[in-house]
Amino acid sequence: LPAYIYPNRLNSAGVDLADPLVREPLLEQLDKLAARDWAATPTVLAEDHGPARPITSPQDRRDVVGSVLEATEADVDLALVRAKDAQAEWDRRGGIARGHLLDRVADLFEEHTPEFLSLCQREAGKTLVDGVLEVREAVDFLRYYACEARMLFGSPMPLPGPTGEENLLRLHGRGVFGCISPWNFPLAIFIGPAAAALAAGNCVLAKPAEQTPLIAALAVKLCHEAGIPDDVIQLVPGDGRVGAMLSGDERIDGISFTGSTETAHKINRSLADREGPIATFIAETGGQNCMIVDSSALPEQVTRDVVASAFQSAGQRCSALRVLYLQEEIADSMLDMIKGAFAAQDVGQPRDLATDIGPVIDEEAQGKLEDHIAEMEQLGLPVMRLGLPAECEPGSYVAPTIIELDAIDQLKRENFGPVLHVRRYKAEDLGKVIERINRTRYGLTLGLHSRIASTRRFVEARAHVGNLYVNRNQIGAVVGTQPFGGEGLSGTGPKAGGPHYVERFATERVTTIDT
Ligand code: SER
Repeated sequence: LPAYIYPNRLNSAGVDLADPLVREPLLEQLDKLAARDWAATPTVLAEDHGPARPITSPQDRRDVVGSVLEATEADVDLALVRAKDAQAEWDRRGGIARGHLLDRVADLFEEHTPEFLSLCQREAGKTLVDGVLEVREAVDFLRYYACEARMLFGSPMPLPGPTGEENLLRLHGRGVFGCISPWNFPLAIFIGPAAAALAAGNCVLAKPAEQTPLIAALAVKLCHEAGIPDDVIQLVPGDGRVGAMLSGDERIDGISFTGSTETAHKINRSLADREGPIATFIAETGGQNCMIVDSSALPEQVTRDVVASAFQSAGQRCSALRVLYLQEEIADSMLDMIKGAFAAQDVGQPRDLATDIGPVIDEEAQGKLEDHIAEMEQLGLPVMRLGLPAECEPGSYVAPTIIELDAIDQLKRENFGPVLHVRRYKAEDLGKVIERINRTRYGLTLGLHSRIASTRRFVEARAHVGNLYVNRNQIGAVVGTQPFGGEGLSGTGPKAGGPHYVERFATERVTTIDT
């Protein structure tokens, strides 16, 4: 491919926290940013608003990180009018111009890494390591979709003309996309789908999660600074009501959504009930992700990968491991090793570099997880929990937990936090284990630790999952390398950071010319 299309396919280098010359000045900057007051407002305000809503930190409820003015119906209406007006010109600019603008946004994101890290920590409760990964992923999405814009929308694709006619296939934006994003990747999954929609020539109304509008506001501000017109990407902060305004409005041509399966169903129904154009719906939802470990696996590697998969990011990744299946013969010794490594995890404040596991997003999440753990305890299942240090008291923390189940059916829903469930299985039942996993109808990630090639092929051929990870952890899909997304209850596809993603935000047009 020509260099102007893929000028730099290397992923972002991120921040090398191991280098004191990088780390120490960064920590100083973060100290200074710790007192900053942030604000999020809709890009256009159609009317006077009531008071702004304060955003408090999950690591310490006394820390008011900033405040948000939520979009009203009139704001959303005006945003839609402006987006509709701006879209044709944005589409006509073509993929090369749009790609360059997205690259410019990526550069600005890298320049503003300290602010993003501060917000990842204060607004979303992320550790510094998770924050660095988050900014990297956001930058990677921008650059990857910039390349896609240049490649797919740069020039038309000539098709065969056996009768002498000329046939040209072009991709165009569909119109206006509502991009509804989650709090667990408040930057990467906020900007990823929005960047794909922009790359394809759409205007975007971006609705961040109600818990994390501040980091989203900074992201949109940098998009505008990079030169993307204000009407082309607009922030519409708010709760589910704003999401419902978007999905219920006939002027919306597509929705991308990342969040719970239940909300995805609601959006889908709302899109189906509207009159007018049939909208595109792209959803990335929940999971009941499992890992299977057989007796050929390397115990040290399994231990490391289980702890990372289940507890990194406090288990608040859609990819995170929820149910570990251990082959009976090795289950006791494996579980002992895992519990040993689990007990060595540091639970604490995200600002402390030694912290492995920070808070969960809010008290509601905390309550749901505690209810689940109490329910499992009432069933008499063996439960191991880590202690919470006193410094966690003002935050929304859940003591990390390992629960040994009798059956996967004991899990009624996805438990989105630092809770790992363990099951044992007999080697001859591997097929049944996969059937049971498929029966959950979730299909996001699956981990497999086995050194037996035929076992890998057996699992690969039967498991209905979007991402299968063999002999490694099952989190942290890398843009362009491990396109990410599931099937069934886990989402509609296409995969984020993959070669078929941007096309789903586009419509195809063919011109036929009789020469
Ligand atoms: N993309 C993330 C990961 O792979 C999931 O949310 O961990």
